[in-house]
Amino acid sequence: MTFTIAIDGPAAAGKGTISKAVANKYGFAHLDTGLLYRAVGARMLDGVEPIEAARTLSQDALEASNLRTHEVAQAASKVAAIPEVREALVDFQRAFARRQGGAVLDGRDIGTVICPEAEAKLYVTASAEVRAERRFQELQGKGSDLSFDEVLAEVKERDARDSERATAPMKPAEDAVLIDTSNLSIDDAVAAAIRAIDSKHAAG
Ligand code: DC
Repeated sequence: MTFTIAIDGPAAAGKGTISKAVANKYGFAHLDTGLLYRAVGARMLDGVEPIEAARTLSQDALEASNLRTHEVAQAASKVAAIPEVREALVDFQRAFARRQGGAVLDGRDIGTVICPEAEAKLYVTASAEVRAERRFQELQGKGSDLSFDEVLAEVKERDARDSERATAPMKPAEDAVLIDTSNLSIDDAVAAAIRAIDSKHAAG
């Protein structure tokens, strides 16, 4: 059985949490595609040319421990605008999507470019202020001294770069179900995602 669930949307909207919960519920494998771009971004910060980094990406690079920092997030967003970088990562993502047993992929262009044939598509979003507040709380917990305004400015900068690039910009697929998590608890957001997917899963 193959069944692909595509979950797209901006940073800190709840995509990652929803994707993990959904993968767990259906027993599907999960790929956080942002990690691919983060791994390429991290190698660029180490001085490797980004297209070369994308073409030679290894499992080890995906498991590197420093991929969750914001320097790496910004670098990821920059390398993600290079068409040859995106092209180098397509086959791996499509193979993952069609693996036996079902797959959940989360990212920015899964429903539009990587898996336009996905059986279920969600676009998970929230206001920039709510997303910045979540990121701000998380960073404070890690001892960061960035202000809320600085975090908000970074969120907006990354949204603009990801949605305005020419190749595979972040946007909802026409047939995606939109879930705005601005005013939803995690449990309610996960429940909304599962309701949307169940209707396709049952039909297919
Ligand atoms: O989801 P994330 O924050 O880990 O993603 C990091 C960056 O990678 C994001 O700013 C844009 C890019 N990205 C992308 O262009 N396409 C994807 N499918 C996933 C991430």
